[in-house]
Amino acid sequence: MKTECCCRPEVAGTFDFVLEKRPDRDYVILVLSDTQMLAWWWSNEASPERNSLRYTIEELINNTDPDLILCTGDITADGREEVFRDFGVYMDSLEIPWATVWGNHDHTYRIFPDYGMSLADMEALYTNGFKNCLFCAGDPAMGSGNFTIGICEGERFVEAIFMMDSHTVQAYTDADGHEFMSEASINDAQQAWYRERVEAMRQLGCLDSTIVTHQPLTGHAMAFRAALADLDTYTSQLRPDSAKYGVGWREEYKDTSFGIFRVKCDCAGLVCGHIHPDDGMHDLLRTLGHTKNAVCGHCHENNMSVLFEGIRYTHGLKTGGGANSYWNFDFGQNGGTVIRVASDGVTDLYHEYVPYPDFFEKSQCHGKVRAPFDPEYNG
Ligand SMILES: [Fe+2]
Repeated sequence: MKTECCCRPEVAGTFDFVLEKRPDRDYVILVLSDTQMLAWWWSNEASPERNSLRYTIEELINNTDPDLILCTGDITADGREEVFRDFGVYMDSLEIPWATVWGNHDHTYRIFPDYGMSLADMEALYTNGFKNCLFCAGDPAMGSGNFTIGICEGERFVEAIFMMDSHTVQAYTDADGHEFMSEASINDAQQAWYRERVEAMRQLGCLDSTIVTHQPLTGHAMAFRAALADLDTYTSQLRPDSAKYGVGWREEYKDTSFGIFRVKCDCAGLVCGHIHPDDGMHDLLRTLGHTKNAVCGHCHENNMSVLFEGIRYTHGLKTGGGANSYWNFDFGQNGGTVIRVASDGVTDLYHEYVPYPDFFEKSQCHGKVRAPFDPEYNG
């Protein structure tokens, strides 16, 4: 099932992995976001968090029949080796190719080196430990886990996936010389690599790509600020029915956008409380015109999807009850994000909602009454 590019020499240096699309049906990519298991949840067979995650993934598979599963990172909440291992064993048991980027929680070792699994061990485990897992550490100058997956139909590549490290923390100096630590930017080495790979993909006739990161890109912040009329008024109040009726959206975005922006951002360009200096990635995407979709995780309460300057920026829908927020629970914001690929690239992207199972609902004892699940709210 795992096909590495060395079997087709002409794609070496363009795609790290190649998967085949059947000509008679769409290729379905299921994106899981922020599974975020603690070791004591994942190891406890009675844990509602563990079981709600497995239930959610299995429902998603039943409902979408995916060909490939992508994880937007924060596989773990605590960075523990046993969670990385047990999650990988579980994902491999599904017998569907899967791949992940790392999230900030997966880098727990940076703060607690004696507690979290080391990066070298994470990379070794996900490169070699699971037969259905696609992972390449890539050039360390770019971080960890920058690699590409090509999807071909016959000899023709119909879609490319860029799995990219959005970096937990990196130094940033703004135009005025102020130094600070920024979260989520795509560094110069990554941008050069992205440019080279896009050019190589075009040589192979591949004209469409999707970027998957953990943290939102600068473009996500730009898109959400553009689409929401009044962030201060609406972002802390948005509910699923607000998305349904387009409350708070600028008119020109209503027809092409969907989902929820719950975590407040301000006019300095913060998304989910993290500083977003302009790393130039959005301009690069616009200039090259190859990537039409960028999907991230990280902000559990956001699942907004906005078409902005030719690129659809999407927050993946949170998957399962791990490190859940009450808000997600109260309004049934659980599931995954589906990307459908036809013979000419991505044709559809939407959230696939999974109502929380009863056993998880009963385990939530925060004294609130959950709103009934209404698919129309979540469309
Ligand atoms: Fe995160």
